[in-house]
Order: sequence, then structure tokens, then C-alpha cells
Amino acid sequence: MNAKKKWNRMARFYDIWSAPMEMMGAKKWRLMLFSEIPEGNILEIGVGTGINTEYYPNENREYTAIDISPKMLEKAKARAEKNDKTVDLIEMNVESMQFPSKSFDAVAATCVFCSVPDPVQGLREARRVLKKDGMALFIEHMRPGGRVLGKIFDIMNHATSRLIGFNINRRTAENIRKAGFEIIEERYLFRDIFRFIKAKPV
Ligand SMILES: C[S@@+](CC[C@H](N)C(=O)[O-])C[C@H]1O[C@@H](n2cnc3c(N)ncnc32)[C@H](O)[C@@H]1O
Repeated sequence: MNAKKKWNRMARFYDIWSAPMEMMGAKKWRLMLFSEIPEGNILEIGVGTGINTEYYPNENREYTAIDISPKMLEKAKARAEKNDKTVDLIEMNVESMQFPSKSFDAVAATCVFCSVPDPVQGLREARRVLKKDGMALFIEHMRPGGRVLGKIFDIMNHATSRLIGFNINRRTAENIRKAGFEIIEERYLFRDIFRFIKAKPV
């Protein structure tokens, strides 16, 4: 099943499915990311049902958000309106974005690059659309570094990637570097699995 179809199907259940994670700390992490978002033109990648819109600071910022799934975007539109946030929501694949290069002062993504089919290509695109002095902010889960736990994640990934479409063993910090970013800050949020990463184009 392609990514668009899969996420369209998931749209109805996503908020229920992600509720435990929100209660366990994700709300706090989202707030932290958006409290550090620079001013200017901001792009959110993989906006999903728009959970982050609640945390968008209003002042001196213009928001654009993309997602591959129109059903997710419908939910995001309703949520942005409820949160009284203005955001230009666009159906677009992060692997081949239609924005001119160097369009944004910041790009943000939360829990997205575990599911993008070619994450390095998506991250290269994030770098391309970012201004030279721009900032990329990510909250992503990734393969833990420990040998045993890493192997367990590799084994479990066969099930998660097939059943729910997430890869739990992506090396996203490495992928961010591979895509041409320099990581300037990396905070471990839950062990080394959930991380807050700030990066700038090399
Ligand atoms: C796990 S959800 C995260 C949603 C939201 N960022 C959050 O934190 O709740 C992943 C999102 O990425 C989107 N996505 C997956 N592949 C994508 C792609 N290639 N281009 C754009 N969006 C994509 C999915 O449609 C989905 O909304």
C-alpha cells in the first residue's frame, strides 16, 4: 500500500492511537520544540491531524504545513481553526517538495521520518527549502544505540513497519547528517529513542 493510502486510512484513528503518547510526555515535547521555533516563514512537515498547531507561536511567524495525506490535512484544518491558528495546509510529498529553494526560516517535523519511504531524500528536501541561516527542528524516535535493545528494535520493526507503517529502527540522527545538516543540539527525551534535534544546513 502506498504512503498516501496508508495515512488516509490511519487519519480516523490517529488521535486515539496517539493519545497515550501525548499523555506520557509528547505534549511537553511539542511545546518545547515550538517554544524554540525561530521567527519568520515556518514549514511543518507531516502535519498529520494538526496536533502541533496548538503550540504554534503566533507573533512574527507565517506557517505552511504539508502532508502526503488529504484525510490527515482535513483533520489538521479543523484543528488549526479550533486553535485559532492561520496555516497554509498543502498536500505534498516531502521527498519532492514544490517550494523554491531557501524559502523557509525554519522547518519542523515531529514523528515523521520514521514513516517517510525515503527519509534521506525527504531530509535533503527539508535542507533545500531552508534558508542558509535557517534552523531545522525535529522530534523523532529512532533505533536505540545499545546492542541488545537495537537488535530487539530491528526484530520488532518487521511487525511495526508492516502493521502500522512505522519503522522503529531508523537511524534518523545519522540520516539528518547524511542529508547535509549539522546537528547543533541533540537532547534525549526518552533514553536515546526519542530525541529533540536542532540542525542547520552545512
Ligand atoms: C506519525 S504521523 C505524525 C503526525 C504529526 N507530525 C504528529 O506529530 O502527530 C506521520 C505523518 O507524516 C505524513 N507523511 C508520511 N510520509 C510522508 C511524505 N512522504 N510526505 C509528507 N508527509 C508524509 C503522514 O501522512 C502522517 O500524517
